[in-house]
Amino acid sequence: MAGKLDGQVAIVTAGGSGIGAASAVRFAQEGAAVIVADLSGKRAEAVTAQINDAGGKATMIKMDVADPDGIQATIQLALDTYGRLDVMFNNAGLGELSRLEDTSLESWNRTIAVTLTGTFLGMKYCLPIMRQQAKGAIVNTASVSGIGGDYGMSAYNAAKAGVINLSRSAAIENAQYNIRVNCVCPGAINTRAAQLLGGDRADEFRRLQGEAHPLGRMGEPEEIANTVLFLASDEASFITGQALAVDGGVTSQTGLPNMLSIHEG
Ligand SMILES: NC(=O)c1ccc[n+]([C@@H]2O[C@H](COP(=O)([O-])OP(=O)(O)OC[C@H]3O[C@@H](n4cnc5c(N)ncnc54)[C@H](O)[C@@H]3O)[C@@H](O)[C@H]2O)c1
Repeated sequence: MAGKLDGQVAIVTAGGSGIGAASAVRFAQEGAAVIVADLSGKRAEAVTAQINDAGGKATMIKMDVADPDGIQATIQLALDTYGRLDVMFNNAGLGELSRLEDTSLESWNRTIAVTLTGTFLGMKYCLPIMRQQAKGAIVNTASVSGIGGDYGMSAYNAAKAGVINLSRSAAIENAQYNIRVNCVCPGAINTRAAQLLGGDRADEFRRLQGEAHPLGRMGEPEEIANTVLFLASDEASFITGQALAVDGGVTSQTGLPNMLSIHEG
C-alpha cells in the first residue's frame, strides 16, 4: 500500500522526544525520509536509530532552532542527503512557569527565541526551497495555550499565539506557490515536557491536566503525530492557514460550570 508521504523528505525539529519523535516515526512509516533535528544529539540519535532499525530512512542533526545557522544546517542536510524538502515540521517550543511580574527578561527572551523565533527561522529558510519546488507543506506546533491564556504561562501564551498568526501570514504569502502552512494546537500531552512542568508532583500534574479535558485524559504524542501527518500530507491539500486544536475538547468549553448540576444535585 502506498504511504501518505512516499518519496517525500521531511524535517522534524525537537524530533528527539514527545510529539516530534512520534511524528518523525509516523512520517517514516508513511514513506518519508526524515531529518530528526534536536538540541539533544543523544535523543535525536535514538529516534533516528529507531526509524532506521524499522526499515525507514532517517538522519539526525544536533541543532538549536533559535540559531539561524542551526536551521540552515538542518535544511542543507536534508538537501545534501535526500535532494529535496517537502515537509517542514517546526515543533520546538519552550515554556517556563512563573507569574508575569516574576518572569525574568532572560526567561521571556528564551521562550520567545525558541518558540516564536525558532518557528520564524524554520519557515524563513525552508520557503525559498519549497518555492523552487513549487510544492511544500509546513506544520508548526502551536498550542491551546496560543488560543487562550493560562495562569503562570504568559511568555508561552504570547509566543504560541504568535506562532498561530505568523503561520496565517506565511499561509497567505505562499498559497500562490502551492505551499501550505498550518498549525497544530495540542491540549495537554503526555510527554517529557509535561513531566518536567510537573516536577516532583508530576503524577498530580498529569491527573489535574487530564481532568481539565472533556475527554477526561491527557493526549498521547501519537494522537498529535497523526494530525501533523494529515496536515503535512496531500489529504489536506485544500487546508492552509488553519490552527487545528487536538485537545480532547478543552477549547470548546466556555469555562462556565455545569448549570444543570445545581438543579440535579
Ligand atoms: N506536551 C504538551 O502538553 C504540549 C502541549 C501543547 C504544545 N506542546 C508543544 O509541543 C512541542 C513539543 O513538546 P513535547 O511535549 O513533545 O516536548 P518534549 O520535552 O517531549 O520534547 C521536546 C524536545 O525539544 C528539544 N528541544 C528543546 N529546545 C530545543 C531547541 N532550542 N532546538 C531544538 N530542539 C529543542 C528537546 O531536546 C526535546 O527533545 C513544543 O513546541 C511544545 O510547546 C506541548
